[in-house]
Amino acid sequence: MRLVLVGPPGAGKGTQATFICERLGIPQISTGEMLRAAKAAGELAQEHVDVMAEGGLLPDAVALDLVRTRLDAPDSRQGFLLDGFPRTEPQARGLDAILEKRGTALDVVLALEVPEDLLIERAVLRRTDRRTGQIYHLKYNPPPADAELEHRTDDHEDVVRKRIAAYRDMTAGLLPFYERQGKLRRVDGAGTVDEVEEQVFAALGTAD
Ligand code: AP5
Repeated sequence: MRLVLVGPPGAGKGTQATFICERLGIPQISTGEMLRAAKAAGELAQEHVDVMAEGGLLPDAVALDLVRTRLDAPDSRQGFLLDGFPRTEPQARGLDAILEKRGTALDVVLALEVPEDLLIERAVLRRTDRRTGQIYHLKYNPPPADAELEHRTDDHEDVVRKRIAAYRDMTAGLLPFYERQGKLRRVDGAGTVDEVEEQVFAALGTAD
């Protein structure tokens, strides 16, 4: 399956992506994770580091290049889940063109829908174990005592609000775009992790 997971910051994309990829045996391709890894390796231009820290979006060409290269890897040939990409209509059109050249196309676009007050609480209280990459939440999924916790620099409330605004202005328009293609499945992401997981698989089950 070739999937896209779209949703605002803190909606639970990374959390649900793990379940989907495990069950379907496909790789998770997260542009946010790839960019943070490039930053940690000192390979991300300072202007792009600054844009991420301020809650903005990187140029479409940067995101498209990352994804084009990643989709060349052999593990992506039988399917993949894109998490956090595309984020703009030019990225979505670029992705369609990349896949068309390879004689394939997206199957399903899952949209996680979550009210704004929950998004802020989820993002601000998120912590990640730097050794394992495991995502925790101080209230809903507390980490074990020996975890080495990291707080993302863009998970402070003022930046989260800017990221939500960027989603509203530049990404939310993808929902009607994919609706017109007949690929959109909306999922209520406001429940518990388990409840959302159930709805995600129900949406995928009705997707073919
Ligand atoms: P990215 O890393 O993609 O961030 P995001 O889209 O803002 O998404 P998040 O990682 O914040 O949230 P999530 O939906 O994955 O939630 P999670 O599962 O962790 O992008 C970061 C930046 O990179 C962007 O701002 C931009 O600058 C740049 N970028 C990336 N891609 C780009 C692109 N294509 N183009 C241009 N720029 C790009 O969950 C959040 C928390 O909630 C966790 O603590 C989790 O434990 C908890 N939680 C999850 N589900 C539930 C639940 N159901 N109930 C209770 N708690 C829950």
